Amino acid sequence: TAALRVALAGLGTVGGGVIRVLQQNRELITRRAGRPIEIVAVSARDRSKDRGVDISGFEWVDDTSALAACDADVVVELVGGADGPALALARATLAAGKGFVTANKAMLAHHGLELANAAEGAKVPLKFEAAVAGGIPVIKGLREGAAANAIDRVYGILNGTCNFILSKMEAEGRDFADVLAEAQALGYAESDPSFDIDGVDAAHKLSILSSVAFGMKPAFGDVAVSGIRDVIAADIAEAAALGYRVRLVGVAEAGASGLFQRVHAHLVPTHHPLAHVTGSTNAVVVDGNYVGRLLFQGAGAGDGPTASAVVADLIDIARGEFGPAYAMPVASLAEASPAPTGER
Ligand code: NDP
Ligand code: HSE
Repeated sequence: TAALRVALAGLGTVGGGVIRVLQQNRELITRRAGRPIEIVAVSARDRSKDRGVDISGFEWVDDTSALAACDADVVVELVGGADGPALALARATLAAGKGFVTANKAMLAHHGLELANAAEGAKVPLKFEAAVAGGIPVIKGLREGAAANAIDRVYGILNGTCNFILSKMEAEGRDFADVLAEAQALGYAESDPSFDIDGVDAAHKLSILSSVAFGMKPAFGDVAVSGIRDVIAADIAEAAALGYRVRLVGVAEAGASGLFQRVHAHLVPTHHPLAHVTGSTNAVVVDGNYVGRLLFQGAGAGDGPTASAVVADLIDIARGEFGPAYAMPVASLAEASPAPTGER
């Protein structure tokens, strides 16, 4: 069977991870996908950078948005940024009638509806499992596993950098800045880490989760956001003395008057599962009206776990298994606002 031909934009933490996963698990991925998945072209800023992976077999394309025109079935975008080259590439790819896979939650939070419209208009896949909670298959879990349920609430730890910082401060009494530098060195943080520590990244992810869970357009502007910048070691120690841990939690909840979305540092009682989520791990709790409570937990950041989610999307596309671009066909998505609980 013909290979799925992939063009890859961005060769950093996640892009490098995708090359490694496809190379190292090549045989099993081919078997499971039913055909080979082959990178044919790549693009990044600096052609000469040593990336620790062999890219000599791929065509190098200088202008990242020109990847949309190369001879590939799918473009994978791992550059980042809500606008700029990532958005130009997304638009050009979907306009060219090719599938698009991304880990870019900032872009989806701001332009998700436009891109979903474009994908559904062109009848091509738009996949973004890696954009929410890294390696955890929570988009799949919601769209497939929980598909029979009305969702009352989705909440969880959605930022690996913050959770890494908070749990290191808690366990080792270390300083905020020192732990942030370690999270950056491990490849967890965004290129602008204020997105992590001010809660913006978690809010991007929450707005995507909500759009999938509640069948609405991503509404990042409706999320109330604060971060962990002001949390000090003494807060964490005091919380511990009272039986709590400090966690940055995003919550989306359907109420009588609509959907509430917020990201804040929470005091989580030590008996709650979220209190035991440490390091860069993420966890997402979904309350469905028939399935009850689901808990998804796993690595929320880093090259391997994030690449695992990107490659899972590519395997779905290779198999021809991909659902609507976002939560539902776009004709209704464009109109959708969260349904009051009583009407769902
Ligand atoms: P990195 O900064 O490690 O990599 C970014 C890549 O994009 C680099 O290869 C860089 O090129 C390239 N790039 C940057 N700017 C441009 C530009 N203007 N034109 C062309 N190429 C450019 O980022 P990550 O791999 O960490 O993140 C990529 C995406 O994945 C982001 O959207 C991020 O939010 C998301 N993500 C990241 C996770 C993580 O754990 N790191 C987890 C989940 C999602 P060069 O190498 O030449 O400088
Ligand atoms: N900066 C993000 C985090 C990467 O720390 O969770 C994963 O989306």
